[in-house]
Amino acid sequence: MHIHVAPKPKADLLVLGIFDDKKLDHDGASADAQLKGLITSLLKEEFKPDFKQTKFMHVGGAVKNILLVGLGKRTEFDIDKLRKVSAIAAKVARANRIKSAATTLHRLDAKGNYKDKGRAIAEGSILGLYRFNKYKTVNDDFKVEELALIEGDKKRIEELGHGVHTGSVLANATNYVRDIVNSPACFVTPTALADEAKAVAKKYRLKIKVFNKAQMQKLGMNALLGVASGSSQEPRFIIMEYKSKKANVTIAVVGKGITFDSGGLDLKPPPYMETMKLDKAGAAAVLGIMQTVAHLKLPVNVIGAMPTTENMPGPGAQKPGDVVTAYNKKTIEIMNTDAEGRLILADAISYVEKNYKPRAIIDLATLTGAVVIALGYHAAGILGNDEGLIKKVKDAGWRSFERVWQLPLWQEHKEAAKSDIADVANAFRSGSVDAGTINGAAFISYFVNVPWVHVDIAGAAWSPEEREYIPRAATGYGVRLITQLLMDWKSQK
Ligand code: BES
Ligand code: ZN
Ligand code: ZN
Repeated sequence: MHIHVAPKPKADLLVLGIFDDKKLDHDGASADAQLKGLITSLLKEEFKPDFKQTKFMHVGGAVKNILLVGLGKRTEFDIDKLRKVSAIAAKVARANRIKSAATTLHRLDAKGNYKDKGRAIAEGSILGLYRFNKYKTVNDDFKVEELALIEGDKKRIEELGHGVHTGSVLANATNYVRDIVNSPACFVTPTALADEAKAVAKKYRLKIKVFNKAQMQKLGMNALLGVASGSSQEPRFIIMEYKSKKANVTIAVVGKGITFDSGGLDLKPPPYMETMKLDKAGAAAVLGIMQTVAHLKLPVNVIGAMPTTENMPGPGAQKPGDVVTAYNKKTIEIMNTDAEGRLILADAISYVEKNYKPRAIIDLATLTGAVVIALGYHAAGILGNDEGLIKKVKDAGWRSFERVWQLPLWQEHKEAAKSDIADVANAFRSGSVDAGTINGAAFISYFVNVPWVHVDIAGAAWSPEEREYIPRAATGYGVRLITQLLMDWKSQK
């Protein structure tokens, strides 16, 4: 969809927002006058402008169709509500087979500047219209082609345009990530993911390195190789580099890329295995982030690392009780083969730290079922070793509205990750029911020395239900959060 800002756009649909006090603003009043009081009478009778209510009408004449969108309380309307109603409006437009729409939603008195408003409308519309029907032989692929933000003021046109550009880049990259995560494991194998990364690197002129199994054996990445040993698919370790001409700081983003998590010999029961093609959501997000930073030319250097393998119970599979030596030479006792994410992250994070010396490392990983129990689907869990970095991630969470919630990571938690026979164990003895998300982070903490934040996206990366701008299944979580963090990196202390 193409989004632009114009004083008098031609369109087949006019979108008007109305607060629950029913007071029409300038745009509403002039449309009402043109329609001979139709809106006023609707507001008296059938349309109650509660948040998210809609009324679509074919009215004929210069304005062919009109969509009233309820906004709820004037005082409670904010940028995320704007994003949500933008998504709803776009979906109603599509359902009514509208090719081009014009909106006035940015003109409402929502908190926030015009840049943020333009961005929210673009994000809401593009994210809201996402559908994954690549594998359907019969589908309705009607597309809303154009959205215009109606605006005549020169300064506002500029600010809105800026926001629309940023929002479009973020939303398109998020939809790209959704496509990868929704794609089944039979197609998105580690080698396929590496090929995709190469295509992205070529398109955005990024440096890329892809290590195969033999190269990882030489490097001593045995924690990752142990996970890969039960699969017929070869693992890959992908590292991409974005270099800014204006930057003197390097941030590394590491994403868990398990293209399918069967659990390994500690096999998952069917209901838990069903969605495990999602276990590459961290790596997919990193691929999306590399695109946004390159596209927006952010003034920071970014390393994107994606350790990727299947976790399968094939003939060579690692066994509970096995011991492996990780890249940083620490020994790990495998207590549970289903705690594989932390193993591949251990090798990837220590490799990135040693070879790129980043100022900070953020990892994104669908690491634990426990974070879904703790926080549900509306936030990722964050834990780390540096309160300053954690604060930055929290701020980025509120600004992008990809929210995060901190859990503690204390010395006591770290001690619990110790093993009887090796340096650390990848899981607790079975039978112990405890803070699974903290345990995961505690394990990873043994493989990182620089400021680090772990983002457990097991809940946030997948939505069991469609919400306003979030579809069912893959959400593409992480692109907006981390791009926001990198956008704000310089201006923050
Ligand atoms: N990929 C799973 C975590 C997961 C669960 C992601 C649900 C998305 C939705 C991870 O590899 C895993 O299996 N974790 C185990 C760890 C345990 C064995 C210590 C878990 O959370 O049960
Ligand atoms: Zn697992
Ligand atoms: Zn997993």
